[in-house]
Amino acid sequence: MEAKGVVVITLVLSLAAAAGAARPKETTMGLTRRGLASEPMTHLHFYFNDKVSKPSPTSLYVMDDALTEGPEPESQPVGRAQGMYMSTGLAKLGLLQVMNLVFTHGPYNGSVVTVLGRNGPFGNVREMPVIGGTGTFRFSRGYAQLKTHTLDLKKNDAIVEYNVYIMH
Ligand SMILES: *[C@@H]1O[C@H](CO)[C@@H](O)[C@H](O)[C@H]1NC(C)=O
Repeated sequence: MEAKGVVVITLVLSLAAAAGAARPKETTMGLTRRGLASEPMTHLHFYFNDKVSKPSPTSLYVMDDALTEGPEPESQPVGRAQGMYMSTGLAKLGLLQVMNLVFTHGPYNGSVVTVLGRNGPFGNVREMPVIGGTGTFRFSRGYAQLKTHTLDLKKNDAIVEYNVYIMH
């Protein structure tokens, strides 16, 4: 009986201690949350011009594909997608894609975003992780969503819409 009383008192005391500690804890969490909120979030939108056909293919598993503002290949250039993709799915088509999005125009000229992930090219919307970056995009993390805009099955050329969301 007496032992039980001690346990109850101890419990009440520890609850009181927890309540007392609640305020400073909240403040710390508030600061952490504010810290995260102040981290810039950038949304990039562009089109990836994967040209496999002749003349002047820019992609044969290793790519240096143009990134453009619009889906038309002659629209304003944004940068280049430099990297490679390999078929790594045995049962179902899946690519391991690793590339640097090298910005050559506009406010991000000179900065790079590095993407590495799985691309199932016939999926509706595919997602790949952003694993880092340089320049403006140092400490980057985020994701890229890809949607095929046009696919020429004769030439195997594709225009792919990219939406990239980055915290940095
Ligand atoms: C991008 O930056 C490079 C290096 O600073 C510069 O030579 C080039 O003119 C810039 N390109 C554009 C389109 O501003």
